[in-house]
Amino acid sequence: MSKDTFYITTPIYYSSGDLHIGHTYTTVAADVMARYKRMQGFDVMFLTGTDEHGLKVEKSAEAAGVTPQQFVDDLLYKDGGILSLWKLMNISYDRFIRTTDDYHIKSIQTIFRRLYDKGDIYKDVYKGLYCVPCESFWTESQLQDGNCPDCSRPVDYAEEEAYFFRQSKYADKIMSLIGDYLEPASRVNEMVNNFLKPGLEDICVTRTSFKWGIPVDFDPEHVIYVWVDALSNYITALGYGNDKYDDFDKYWPCDVHYVGKEIVRLHSILWQSMLLALDIPLPKKVFGHGWLNLDGVKMSKSRGNVIDPIILTERYGVDALRFFILREYTFGTDGNFTNELLINRINSDLSNDLGNLVSRTVSMVIKYFEGSLPENQESSPEDNELITAAGGLYALYEKSMDSYAYQDALSAIFAVTSRANKYIDETAPWVLAKDEANKPRLAAVLYNLLETIRICTVLLTPYMPNSCEEILRQIGASADISTFSRALTFGTLPKTVTVNKGEIIFPRLDLEKELAYLTT
Ligand code: MSP
Repeated sequence: MSKDTFYITTPIYYSSGDLHIGHTYTTVAADVMARYKRMQGFDVMFLTGTDEHGLKVEKSAEAAGVTPQQFVDDLLYKDGGILSLWKLMNISYDRFIRTTDDYHIKSIQTIFRRLYDKGDIYKDVYKGLYCVPCESFWTESQLQDGNCPDCSRPVDYAEEEAYFFRQSKYADKIMSLIGDYLEPASRVNEMVNNFLKPGLEDICVTRTSFKWGIPVDFDPEHVIYVWVDALSNYITALGYGNDKYDDFDKYWPCDVHYVGKEIVRLHSILWQSMLLALDIPLPKKVFGHGWLNLDGVKMSKSRGNVIDPIILTERYGVDALRFFILREYTFGTDGNFTNELLINRINSDLSNDLGNLVSRTVSMVIKYFEGSLPENQESSPEDNELITAAGGLYALYEKSMDSYAYQDALSAIFAVTSRANKYIDETAPWVLAKDEANKPRLAAVLYNLLETIRICTVLLTPYMPNSCEEILRQIGASADISTFSRALTFGTLPKTVTVNKGEIIFPRLDLEKELAYLTT
């Protein structure tokens, strides 16, 4: 029997040497969702890649004295480049697309011709305002304070013969559908009020002023302007218009495109119009997440206000960073990054709460039972609250995860770990241990703790795959019960479980010391 599929994408990243933690936000979030869906039994296709054409690359390559292809290859493969960063961040993508891949180039030419043959692409003269860094044309009314609405930099007047995509034709359709696929709802209002209500204009989709792009095969003076090239990656990577892959029918329509808020317009209006024009079903969801800011402004290389994920992961581990960005900030809105929030969050949740719970419990099983619990265990009504909380956790978690509410999913888990720490105080195992007659009761208490840890850790696995594997090892949970389907029922861990001693997984950090370290 074939499993249900789940197709999830990140934007394709601009070729760039210096990625910051803002960049990792989209990809880590998508990775957690992909792992979650795989653990649920879905056949997942997780796509990411790089967006390698355009004027900026052409100029940078020229300045560096290399060909544009050489330039993007170097950036991709170099130490600290995007491939090494995704490896470091433990990103489990299934497919990686480069817009310079031959099969993609061929597909884009096919897509362009199809749109042209249909009359949805036509030739005209473009007169307008152009933002070089964003590679976007803007109308007067879209500018903010006379500058590019995306990056606030000045725009230039530009005029040239170009091909246009008849986006205006699809305005009514998009208006009637956008509420179905775009989330969160605040982004729908933004798109409707700022772009759809004022009226959609046709979009310039080719350039003649630079060469580093995919040529229109029937008019090679023109290169296909980056957004048609870039957006189409979501279908070319499945084999649309090429023979390289053959799973378009299997995975399309896409279950969710993850995008940062500044590219929501392109993904919820232009992309959807292109798909309508190509008679391709629309994606089920576009989720526009917020930005990670630093001191209130978007972290970005050009502003120089960036936080380097490599430095943070070297010091605190990949899992702590993955966890932090999804635990601290609401996925749909902006969040302000500070080192202090990071350290405090690691201390409060990972070290004090989860880490402490694991190390206390495992140590007590070793101390009082030489590592293996006895069969004879005595339950008590005082266990009920914890058992109900842990046993009901998956349902809460699933509801939040399925609505992209990472923070709520994590809050639900940490409410249970806190409850478990409180249960230790209430049951006082060290007091029970004083009297041999209490051993069955003590064993039940420790079993309940181990089982609570197992359930919480299984649900945390998509966020912190490596640390969770280690926790599950320490509490003696075998792989076959470290699954979602076995996290539904409290009492799955064998009664006579054997725990394993291990390192402290999240050592407590000294805030002052860490802040000093990170600012020097
Ligand atoms: N190449 C385009 C996307 C084309 S998709 C058909 C692009 N690339 S990007 O490298 O600039 O951005 C990649 C992703 O990183 C986007 O989702 C973007 O929103 C995200 N982020 C970049 N800086 C960010 C923050 N400071 N905070 C959160 N996400 C941010 O756009």
